[in-house]
Amino acid sequence: MNIADELAVPAKEELDHALQIADHVDYLGGMPAVTPKSVKTSEKEAEMLRFDLENEKDTIRNYRRRVKQAEELNEFAIAESLRGILVQEQDHRTALATALGIDPPNPGIAD
Ligand SMILES: [Fe+2]
Repeated sequence: MNIADELAVPAKEELDHALQIADHVDYLGGMPAVTPKSVKTSEKEAEMLRFDLENEKDTIRNYRRRVKQAEELNEFAIAESLRGILVQEQDHRTALATALGIDPPNPGIAD
């Protein structure tokens, strides 16, 4: 498996998510954070996939919380948009877990 090719589609989706989130932040009158999280790297392909899977798990956990928060604010359109992102993030999680030969981890929901 060529990892770069496998990650090309999710990478484009992640960029699209960032643009959607920036629109939501702008709509809400906020300011997007500009400090990215540090990125773990490894020379070992399986370890890189595990790092990516951990990030997807954290991302899903956080989006689940954001959907609830958007609904609590009656921002149903934003909640719907976030649900679409969540569907893709869950697909990313499943693809990575499948590549690693493990069950997709349950992310839970952020506090
Ligand atoms: Fe993702």
